[in-house]
Formats: sequence, structure tokens, C-alpha cells
Amino acid sequence: MPTTKLSRRAATAAALSLAALIAAPAHAQETFKIGLILPMTGGQASTGKQIDNAVKLYMQQKGDTVAGKKIEIILKDDGAVPDNTKRIAQELIVNDKVNVIAGFGVTPAALAAAPLATQGKVPEIVMAAGTSIITERSPYIVRTSFTLAQSSTIIADWAAKNGIKKVATLTSDFAPGNDALNFFKQNFTAGGGEVVEEVKVPLQNPDFAPFLQRMKDSKPDAMFVFVPAGQGGTFMKQFAERGLDKTGIKVIGPGDVMDDDLLNGMGDAALGAVTAHMYSAAHPSAMNKEFVAAYKKAFGSRPGFMAVGGYDGIHLIYEALKKTGGKTDGDALVEAMKGMKWESPRGPISIDPETRDIVQNIYIRKVEKVDGELYNVEFATFEAVKDSGKTKK
Ligand code: PHB
Repeated sequence: MPTTKLSRRAATAAALSLAALIAAPAHAQETFKIGLILPMTGGQASTGKQIDNAVKLYMQQKGDTVAGKKIEIILKDDGAVPDNTKRIAQELIVNDKVNVIAGFGVTPAALAAAPLATQGKVPEIVMAAGTSIITERSPYIVRTSFTLAQSSTIIADWAAKNGIKKVATLTSDFAPGNDALNFFKQNFTAGGGEVVEEVKVPLQNPDFAPFLQRMKDSKPDAMFVFVPAGQGGTFMKQFAERGLDKTGIKVIGPGDVMDDDLLNGMGDAALGAVTAHMYSAAHPSAMNKEFVAAYKKAFGSRPGFMAVGGYDGIHLIYEALKKTGGKTDGDALVEAMKGMKWESPRGPISIDPETRDIVQNIYIRKVEKVDGELYNVEFATFEAVKDSGKTKK
């Protein structure tokens, strides 16, 4: 009967569409989702831009398929506001079912997401923030940026050994600024130095001018400065406007204030600044030369240290996924990341298997003019520096 025939056909069609339905989730699992949470607007937007660029560059170079999985980036702007970070991380984990959350332009954002990473058993890759405690807040946090303790202890030792006796400090008033200040003071005073003036400036829209007069009046040999990525240009402009560049007061600090992203626009007032940091666009390795050239070609600007944290962060995710053979389980991915070693544009780096924090060279650099452009020229290297700022257990 025609009806039987029809219904048989209908049954076949139904079976086929059922098979398609069953196949759909399997197909969806072939995608590996990375929720990239960055400040794309507001005062920290340069960090977001650098990391977003670097992730795009890496994926252009290496392709978007890893261990049979298609990598999908879901970029979300948290404006560096931790309440936003928390809400976005929750949505990404629960609704989008991301396999990894990454980015985090500031410490409060990285901390806000930590409990969600733990609950969801989702790796949290910190590509920018630099306060020591971050990796202690969740066993799923792995960091590819830096810590302020790494650079501030080293510049403090260097200053004490190089004729700098009196220092005035200017630090941004939030967690990484406090780490920078405390680790600097600890090593500098142990080396015989004295801190003669201490000012903390607000994170949002800082006006440095009122503080700079106090710095000048305290007649230090050097000024220790920590401002987050993106603020160094404003700082140096006001430094020069107040005539501090004519006083002989040297600028020292972690390298954030001399971010390569902005350095060339700072003018000659920046010449001679000595900072300790994990990345310089002038790092003389073949890999870095290629990285800088490719970044400039793609985005028309020089990569800064935040770009490198992003580039290595996405590399870490790719390599972990390769190592698990495409297994997306959060615990397996974090296990795969522990102890991983590779060459970065900044030099050799690894992930400390105990703390999940980055181990890297810290370079001391001086701002010099090279072929008419300002660069942080490295002149001393401290190899495989671990974070010294963890809570003592
Ligand atoms: C941080 O919030 O941890 C942070 C932000 C910008 C920096 C360094 C640290 O340059």
C-alpha cells in the first residue's frame, strides 16, 4: 500500500534525522573553545589589544586545528572590572561550555575568575596579571605573564649595587603596585639603600603631576616607578613637563613603565631609564626578530610585553592539547602544562610544575636610541627566575 510505503519512507527519514541529531553533539565536541576575557575598552585597553593581536597572530601562523580539534576563540570585553570578569567567566563556562578561560588584564580580574575555574574544573590561563598570589587561588590557574616580584627584586639589587642610595617610589595603588613596592623595598634596604619618599597613585586616570613635585623635592638618586601597561606614556610626559628629566633623577623599576608599545612615543626624556623585565622588543634572538617583524606587519605597531604573555599563553594551550592527544578534561590539560618548557620571543621559559607559575629570564635594560628609535637594550640576564613572592608554607 502506498501509505505503508510512505510511512516507511517517513520512518527512514526520521531515523536519518535522529542519527543527524545524535551526531550533532559529537561534531560539536570537535571544537575546542577558549573564552578570552580581556579589557578591550577603558584604561587597560592596550593590554587587551596586544593580547588579542598576539593570539590572532599565533593562530595565523600555526593554524586553528590542534589534535583534531578546531580551536574557537570567544573574545569578551570585561573592561578590567572584576564583577564583569566574574559574570563573563560564569557565562562562558556554563552556557558556552568553554574548555579554557584565558586573558585577564589585571590582577582583580584574574582573582575574580579563580573560584569559577575551580568549580568548573576549567584551566584559567593568566596572560597579563602579575601579582604573586594569583596562582595560589586555584589549582587550575597557570600563568604565562610574569610577577612583579621577579622584576622588582632584581632591579632593587641592581640599584643597591650601582651607586643608587636614595630612592623615591611611585606605584600604582592596587595589588601588583603593592607587590612591586614591597619586593623592591625588601631587597633595596637589605642592600643598604634608603626609601626617602613613597607615593601611591590611583589606578584609574592617574594624574602624576601633583606627586612629581614631591618626588623632586625629596632629591633622590632614582625614582622607582610601577605603573601598569598603557600608562607609561602619560607618566613620562608629565615627568618631562615638570622638568624631572633635567634633575639627574634616574627612572628605575619593573619594565611596565617602559612598555615597548609606547616607548618610542615617549621622547628623549625616557633615555637612560633602567628597568628589569621579561621582554624587550629589542631582545636579540632570531625568534624575537621574526615575532616583532610579523606583529608589525600584521598590526602596524611594536609588540609589548603583554603581547608576549598572550602569544605564549595560546602556545601553552595548543601544546597541552597536543600532549593530551585532544583530551579536553581540565585536570589533564593542567597536568600537561606543568613543567612544559619552550622558547618564547622573550627567551627560554617554563611552567613551574609545583606552582604553575612562569619561570623565565629577567633582563636588565637601558633605554637607548637605536637607528633613530627608542628601545630597551638588554645588558644583563638573570636566568630561569622563579616567582619569589609566594606565601611561605
Ligand atoms: C596586574 O593587574 O597584575 C598588572 C597589570 C598591568 C601590569 C602589571 C600587572 O603592567
